[in-house]
Amino acid sequence: MFKALASWIVLTVLLAGCGRNITTNGSPHPIAAVPNGQAIFQTGIDRAGARVTAAKPPLRPSCAACHGADGAGGIHLPGGPVSADLRHPALVTQQKTPYTLVLLERAISNGIDNQGKPLNPVMPRWKLSKGDLHDVAQYVLTTLK
Ligand code: HEC
Repeated sequence: MFKALASWIVLTVLLAGCGRNITTNGSPHPIAAVPNGQAIFQTGIDRAGARVTAAKPPLRPSCAACHGADGAGGIHLPGGPVSADLRHPALVTQQKTPYTLVLLERAISNGIDNQGKPLNPVMPRWKLSKGDLHDVAQYVLTTLK
């Protein structure tokens, strides 16, 4: 009897512990993926309050500052490049090699596009935690229409 009760308690504690770390969207950390991705995209500050950084100091502090709050891009930046349209048709439906989450994460962190070509260096090579990288890529892929 005592043994059964003890194992029930252990199991309950274990399950409760898991529930704290796994979110319904599969984000590797407890802050919900899309709101965190949105905070990074729009403000350059994640939901834990950390400012996102890049390999070289970025010309502008957030994705939205270069790509627009709606991700439509088309903004002319110093040195000539024009920011890319990050909405779903431009990244997915109109592409021969559509962007996936993995390809987006590569573009954001390594500056390699969906064709394997390097992006203009004005696009920062972001240095994000695994969770922040996932969340901002997920936000771009699922929210910008
Ligand atoms: C300082 C301006 C700037 C900031 C800040 C910036 N980008 Fe960019 N981004 C660009 C430019 C310019 C391009 C186009 C590069 C090119 O044409 O080679 C680009 C391209 C991209 C692409 C490639 C799109 C394609 O069609 O291949 C993705 C994805 C992207 N940016 C995502 C992001 C995300 C996510 C953030 C924020 C974490 C961000 N960018 C922040 C300037 C910026």
